[in-house]
Amino acid sequence: MQTHIQKGPHSQLLHQLRSSLLSLCSDSHLICIYNFFQVDRFLHKMRLNDEQLNDISARFQAEMKKGLSAESNAAAAVKMLPTHVRSTPDGTEKGQFLALDLGGSKFKVLQIKVREDQGIRKGGVEIEEKTYPIPNEVLNGRGTELFDHVSESLKDFMHEKNINPKKKHPLAFTFSFPCEQPTLDQGFLLEWTKDFSVRGLQGKDVVDSLRQAIKRTGGMDMEILAMVNDTVATMMTCGFDDKNCEVGVIIGSGTNACYMEQLNHVDLVEGDEGQMCVSTEWGALGDDGTLDDYITEFDREVDACSINPGKQIFEKMVSGMYLGELVRLVVLKMAKLGLLFDGRVTNALRTKGTITTAHVAAMEEYKNCLGHTREILESLNLSPSADDCIAVQHISTIVSFRSSNLVAAGLAAILTRIQKNQKATAFVTAVCVRYPKRLHKVVRRLLPECHVRFVLSESGSSKGAALVSAVAQRLASRKRQVDETLNSFKLSWEQLQLVKARMRAALQAGLKTDGPSEVKMLPSFVYRTPDGSEHGKYLALDLGGTNFRAMLVNFKKGLQQNTKLYHKIYKIPLEIMQGTGEELFDYLAQCVGDFLDYMGMKNTRLPAGFTFSFPCEQTALDTATLLSWTKGFKATNCEGHDVVDMLREAIKRRDFDLDIVALVNDTVGTLMSCAYEDPQCQVALIAGTGSNVCYMEEGGNGQHSDADFSKMCINTEWGGLGDDGTLDDIMTSDDTEVDQNSINPGKQRFEKLTSGMYLGEIVRRVLLNLTIRGLLFKGYVSEALKTPGIFETKYLSQIESGSNRLFSVAILIKVFIVLCGAGMAAVVDKIRENRGLDRLNITVGVDGTLYKLHPHFSRILQETTRALAPQCDVTFLPSEEGSGKGAALIAALAKHMQ
Ligand code: BG6
Ligand code: GLC
Ligand code: GLC
Repeated sequence: MQTHIQKGPHSQLLHQLRSSLLSLCSDSHLICIYNFFQVDRFLHKMRLNDEQLNDISARFQAEMKKGLSAESNAAAAVKMLPTHVRSTPDGTEKGQFLALDLGGSKFKVLQIKVREDQGIRKGGVEIEEKTYPIPNEVLNGRGTELFDHVSESLKDFMHEKNINPKKKHPLAFTFSFPCEQPTLDQGFLLEWTKDFSVRGLQGKDVVDSLRQAIKRTGGMDMEILAMVNDTVATMMTCGFDDKNCEVGVIIGSGTNACYMEQLNHVDLVEGDEGQMCVSTEWGALGDDGTLDDYITEFDREVDACSINPGKQIFEKMVSGMYLGELVRLVVLKMAKLGLLFDGRVTNALRTKGTITTAHVAAMEEYKNCLGHTREILESLNLSPSADDCIAVQHISTIVSFRSSNLVAAGLAAILTRIQKNQKATAFVTAVCVRYPKRLHKVVRRLLPECHVRFVLSESGSSKGAALVSAVAQRLASRKRQVDETLNSFKLSWEQLQLVKARMRAALQAGLKTDGPSEVKMLPSFVYRTPDGSEHGKYLALDLGGTNFRAMLVNFKKGLQQNTKLYHKIYKIPLEIMQGTGEELFDYLAQCVGDFLDYMGMKNTRLPAGFTFSFPCEQTALDTATLLSWTKGFKATNCEGHDVVDMLREAIKRRDFDLDIVALVNDTVGTLMSCAYEDPQCQVALIAGTGSNVCYMEEGGNGQHSDADFSKMCINTEWGGLGDDGTLDDIMTSDDTEVDQNSINPGKQRFEKLTSGMYLGEIVRRVLLNLTIRGLLFKGYVSEALKTPGIFETKYLSQIESGSNRLFSVAILIKVFIVLCGAGMAAVVDKIRENRGLDRLNITVGVDGTLYKLHPHFSRILQETTRALAPQCDVTFLPSEEGSGKGAALIAALAKHMQ
């Protein structure tokens, strides 16, 4: 009966029991019950009901939010420290580690072996450990002394266990204090907690201090791989047996909890995919007054007499270092009030620290708790009566129940967060070092819909630190190998300058020579950019990527903003791209017919501009012989033919008419549509499936210098740079393979180093190779990864925007952009020299999926161009409506000239 009353938290229930007992019991029983209720009344503030616990839980949740947010973190009491531990163990960890466990009531040195052939899941772990006492003067001495003691203990341990001092040993470090960790192997101590108050370490990297001490001690070679909080290490240890384990709780001399949080909620760490373990440092809850209304006079006294008054308020209500003291203060006060021991008080009872947590635990033991209580009180020179023993035992129970109830409230807050994050009922395992059963009971009451399992951590947190180190070691070696592979793609400054110089020479050669040249420099027969006087309705057709677009544009004089656009997109199936020319153009005519029907304009014979994004030899605006297919096209019987004629024929076959007045390259179309908005725009770049540039060249510089013009837009077809081998020295084996496996091997080499169609392939090959080497995706090669062409440009952009673990592949993308910048530097410098200027101010119109979707494309492009062409101020202007509108503008220009 007694036990039942003790554990029942509701005073209502007690009340009922009291009345029924009163009617049944003898006098001595009545006295016992009287004492019991007296204690209850005296400590009513410590007896928290579920409503109060829910309230505390809600307050802690709000504090957690505050700690996670970058804006409020500095002012937050609960620090929510990122740990850089991103996953629980996967069972492949192996190796042999030395470990240090500092910060609990015992300082330990350990050797932990995870056997190579078994992996830890199968139980192949051997632990040897030794506890080294820390003398009091060291606990309150200087930082160097503490770490000298630690490293000398380590040396002693190695000697005792015959561990070879000449070999380099990986070392794991459990350090159970709040630390700010920029990386896994750094930890800046924020504050001492518990009974440590070592001088000169606050704000310092403790890993570095340890490293220095090991150096001072000498005779050891250590690589400190990871520093972890005890909560994290505990979670990791249990994570091996239970994959769902996402929380670690320590209720030892201090108290704290860690859990796996979504990375996008952890403001202090970049990146937003995946998870990271956060050490809440919940011990500091209440340091800003959050718990004031729950704090008793005894809590205040414990705090005032501690080494860190005002700090770790929650910890002081909960953890082992303080429970005994709380009990002592209550007993002392009650005795002084004459409510215990007939008002007698001894010196021992007045002395701090004479009741310990071990005493509290003994007084709570199921068997013989009253006997233990009597012994403890007698050891304090008290002569307790039976009632005194019952009362003191009850005090101790209330103090310790408050402790577990507060932990349960904290846990309920963490579990609620995890549940919200996972948007489902979470199965969570929490690990703790004290009272799992009690916690389970209360947590279940506070959060009935949450499935949580409590595990008592057996091998402590040291093993977990070794596991974190094992993961760190594996990841570090992987990262090294991945970096080596990716670095082979990087280009030096000298190489970039060489690319610029080669592009520059090729532009010149393409203009001058009559014979074939790698960069073709094709005249477009477009002599000027639009001036705003264009007007009327035009049809624009646009073929060049995977889609064919038809659109109707209505220009109004002087009203650049009001050009009306109607458009429709038609996907081009692969069999049409790579079938016969007749089939391709029939398909285009069919799409045009459909569009005109859709617009109700089939019989109006609109003037049309045709954007055709392949290299064409033009002799006039509306004649264009296809020189060669590029990108994914290879329809037969087109190369060497006039594509304007082919389209006209196909339209005729479909019995309608169209006045095709101009054929333009997509770069030229883009230049026109951007210049329509910004007259400074004299260059256009396409960074999409393909890669190309056009610009306004001065008359007299081009092969058509004899023609009567002062300027002409030249389609460079710069993608051909390197087709004569000039870029071989910067191509990696992957680049060469991608070229060899393309539909035009040996052609468009520069394009294959700068455009989306090939970038995707390079990324896929690199990922595939890294996976085959076991360095990515746990070595699992998926069917998708084996499929050429699987990486569309839009997915590549996502690699950069969500900084996930493919982040390192971003180097590849950067190399592509930087090469584009080197080419662009050659073009703008040429324009500057054409005009005999010291400085050139110029705008480049840009279009293409790679440019538009990639978050850093414009910035990197701009930086590279600026660095390689320092005399040019280049502004990049994204094209709004694409090159189609440009083609319509050219049609308008042509009509105007007619
Ligand atoms: C142990 C861990 O199991 O628990 C320590 O190995 C941790 O790292 C300790 O600090 C917590 O308990 P206490 O009572 O030693 O602080
Ligand atoms: C203290 C420390 C914390 C540690 C806990 C348990 O609260 O600040 O880092 O986890 O004690 O040892
Ligand atoms: C290819 C084509 C070129 C086009 C570019 C961008 O390089 O040869 O004409 O401008 O792709 O689409």
